[in-house]
Amino acid sequence: MNPTELARIAGAMVAKGKGILAADESTGTIKKRFDTIRLESNAENHRTYRELLFSAPGAADSISGVIMYDETIRQKTGDGVPFAQYLTKQGIVPGIKVDLGAKPLAGFPGETITEGLDGLRERLIEYRGLGARFAKWRAVIDIGEGIPTAYAIEANAQALARYAALCQENDIVPIVEPEVLMDGAHSLDRCAEVTERVLQTVFDQLFGHRILLEGMVLKPNMVISGKKAPNRAPPQTVAEATVRVLKRHVPPAVPGIAFLSGGQSPAEATLHLSLINQLGPLPWSTTFSYGRALQDEALKAWGGTANNFGTGQKEFARRARLTALATTGRYASDMESKAA
Ligand code: 13P
Repeated sequence: MNPTELARIAGAMVAKGKGILAADESTGTIKKRFDTIRLESNAENHRTYRELLFSAPGAADSISGVIMYDETIRQKTGDGVPFAQYLTKQGIVPGIKVDLGAKPLAGFPGETITEGLDGLRERLIEYRGLGARFAKWRAVIDIGEGIPTAYAIEANAQALARYAALCQENDIVPIVEPEVLMDGAHSLDRCAEVTERVLQTVFDQLFGHRILLEGMVLKPNMVISGKKAPNRAPPQTVAEATVRVLKRHVPPAVPGIAFLSGGQSPAEATLHLSLINQLGPLPWSTTFSYGRALQDEALKAWGGTANNFGTGQKEFARRARLTALATTGRYASDMESKAA
């Protein structure tokens, strides 16, 4: 393990004024996204879409890193340049999703455990050879009646820590992602209570597994009302609760926090991030690692047609620019119409 190198990469990933694009949809998830534009989900269409995002003019100014999927890191641009190499040339750090998904946790109905630890060391070595300098592992915690249980939180936190240790051993920066889902009708307070328990457990396990905090990035949910909650808390409340919870549980040695969007609309996710950064100075760089919130508008504008390739790129670059502004608290909702 090279601590200096790990800290350098982590620092580049969470540099202010930029953020991470999560483009690591698995085969099943990208099919769901393509279904919304009635496009066949095959390897070549996946490749074209990822090229649209990675080569969007101007986007590199707002993007520090890209999380790819196994299929993607093995693919090339239309000109035959491997994607990892293409991103690196633009000053973007290439990353890779290494978990194999959340599966039902035996004995614990409604809860999941993320799989993928077996053979992970060998896979990390291969991915590093393909150009990856950071990785991602997502644990999923659902809120419902009687869940999450302490056991499910513990089991997922332990897997996250084992993954992080293997990454650092191979000079790959781990993105540690414990996602408390915003599905359901729960209140912001309930989300805060669960997120606190989850972060407490995750950092306890990271400490136990001797993780170098300076060489990792945390990817948490924001503290937010459930999507189906009758009275959803306003943006300022989301920002304040998120900062309060993170300050209680994330040591300042962690260089950066890159939020997931989790089903928030693009405008909502951008506004929340901006309000969070307006509460600074914060002990860590607070930025984004959005999937849907960065891509939704671009995917729709493209619609899977060659004619709209450039329009899709413009939409992506626009959202990336607005979200990048939010990392320094300089985004305001009225920019939505102006930037159109
Ligand atoms: P969303 O921003 O769409 O939640 O995706 C981020 C991600 O990488 C989830 O693992």
